[in-house]
Amino acid sequence: MRRKLAAGNWKMNGTSAALSELETLINAHPTADVDILICPPATLIAQAAKTALKSPVQIGGQDCHSAESGAHTGDISAPMLTDAGASHVILGHSERRENHNESSMLIHDKARTAHQSGLITLICLGESLAQREAGSTLDIIADQLANSTPDGATATNTVIAYEPIWAIGTGLIPTLDQIAEVHDFIRSKLETRFGDQTASGIRLLYGGSVKPGNADEIFAVSNVDGALVGGASLKEADFSPIINALEHAV
Ligand code: PGA
Repeated sequence: MRRKLAAGNWKMNGTSAALSELETLINAHPTADVDILICPPATLIAQAAKTALKSPVQIGGQDCHSAESGAHTGDISAPMLTDAGASHVILGHSERRENHNESSMLIHDKARTAHQSGLITLICLGESLAQREAGSTLDIIADQLANSTPDGATATNTVIAYEPIWAIGTGLIPTLDQIAEVHDFIRSKLETRFGDQTASGIRLLYGGSVKPGNADEIFAVSNVDGALVGGASLKEADFSPIINALEHAV
């Protein structure tokens, strides 16, 4: 059985005052039947990890460099994330693929280094609206999955997040059939590459405008093992109902 995962991506939001939301979240979930992850901005990771110690909430980064150290001004390495208390890292988010020209090959190299540092990677895939309208969604997903995921991926170190770019921050979501189609496709591609046993353990998250009001129906979709949540993860009052919906879907 795959343990479900509710992951929050705070993106470039939050100064230390935002840690009170994390505290409220922790207090609302003294125990949990699902994994809960918050990925705050890098400046808050160490404080967040201390706050979340001995709670069911885990802390992750939003990116890391492909090298373990070196002359890379402004970058953060995977060992730095683990040292700060992170257990996970988001890689290949569409905002990084777009804003920082990140290729799937680069994301692959980042993931390999992150795995070597003991981090669980959340590797993000997703098509643009133009690509969906052109009927090339599955080709794009296949290409991003094949080239972003390193050979050493396992159910323990890798989570895949399907995030249609046009659904992120827009309030739009694909139909449930469209979500099922892509998630089933990702599962079958993982089976072909890694074998049924490994593939059956890798969690697949849906991301893009997940809210308390649509979480139940999304979590009922085949091969959806949780969500990667942006805007609705910033406030405990929005994120908790999503976590609760995922617990009820277990
Ligand atoms: P959103 O973002 O929930 O605000 O649409 C999702 C994401 O980018 O992970």
